[in-house]
Amino acid sequence: MKKLSHYELLDCYEEFSWEDIWKIYPMLSTQDIILYYYLSKNYYTGEGNIVDGGVLGGGTTACISKGLIENKKYNKDKNLLLIFDLFKDNVNSINITFLQKHFNRDLFRYEDNFVDFEEVFHNNVEQYKQSVNMIVHKGDLIDYDKYHYLNPIEILSIDIAKTPELMLHICHVFFPHLIPGKSLVILQDWINIQLPFIHIAMNLFNEYFEDYHECPNGSSKVFLCTKKITKDDVKRIIGQKVEDYYYYSLSNIKLINMSIKSAVSTHNKVTSEGVLAKFYLDMGKTKTAEFHFIDTIVKYDLSMDFIMSEPFIDIYHYFKDIIIYYPQVYSRLKRQNSPPYLKTQQEDLQSEA
Ligand SMILES: C[S@@+](CC[C@H](N)C(=O)[O-])C[C@H]1O[C@@H](n2cnc3c(N)ncnc32)[C@H](O)[C@@H]1O
Repeated sequence: MKKLSHYELLDCYEEFSWEDIWKIYPMLSTQDIILYYYLSKNYYTGEGNIVDGGVLGGGTTACISKGLIENKKYNKDKNLLLIFDLFKDNVNSINITFLQKHFNRDLFRYEDNFVDFEEVFHNNVEQYKQSVNMIVHKGDLIDYDKYHYLNPIEILSIDIAKTPELMLHICHVFFPHLIPGKSLVILQDWINIQLPFIHIAMNLFNEYFEDYHECPNGSSKVFLCTKKITKDDVKRIIGQKVEDYYYYSLSNIKLINMSIKSAVSTHNKVTSEGVLAKFYLDMGKTKTAEFHFIDTIVKYDLSMDFIMSEPFIDIYHYFKDIIIYYPQVYSRLKRQNSPPYLKTQQEDLQSEA
């Protein structure tokens, strides 16, 4: 199937009602927002359900709902939007701090050190509930061990694979219900250095998916399922325990390198290099991570602006002393006035057109 190009999404930027989305504070980039809207409006055929894994205040749910409402193939009686979230987090967590900054205190419930934010979600997506058939699964996804719906999954949105355990679990529970030649898997956080295990997991399944779209400036990547995945395939490919797939090996480095090679823009390539540095760190290989970080700065001629910007900032914090102690790298960084990657990103887009 032909890949979805960035240019095919451009019209949506004009027609989309941004005010509806900004007021619910999605944790999504503008490219992600348009992608979710476009796919549920123009790609979705109604053959299967949509899984919205990880919703927080309902950003992805609202974008998907908006698309479904404008999609003639969507049938509310038949097609389900399946929502999964814990709706609960530690009182000092990033999620709770973020939500409490933007939403009324009455919408939160406090239980010891935890805060329940389910009401924030319901309040934010209320306007779509009449038109979209949403089913909410509240609780730890790890406890959801069987997809029990008759319809297969046509779009699987993963904004919930925050640990290697969750990614493994998602492969086991949801992948066998994908429709070959049709189902899409949207992986949030792909263009983000934090989660190397999602790269290893998805690239292990390389034979069963092809690239469909990647947001050129972060953070989602979309994969098209091309071949039936059985439960046994999942067991064979990724194993049953985290240690079966998330460990230090050359083959895992090669899997992350696949993400670097296939990245659609310089921005994404550099971020994927950061994924590899984070993998080394996760594996306790600090010296190798340092080397890779410096190597990336030199290889892509990165500016201080870029290093100090999302998404590289976390790696920078690990290595800020190194940057200062490597005089050549530091002076190179200081010399750059504007990030060279901006220029190359434009070139990438022009060549895609
Ligand atoms: C980054 S947020 C999702 C952002 C959202 N998609 C949006 O558009 O704004 C990740 C979500 O995953 C949920 N989550 C994380 N771990 C989970 C688990 N083990 N079970 C269920 N939900 C989980 C969190 O509660 C949080 O709401």
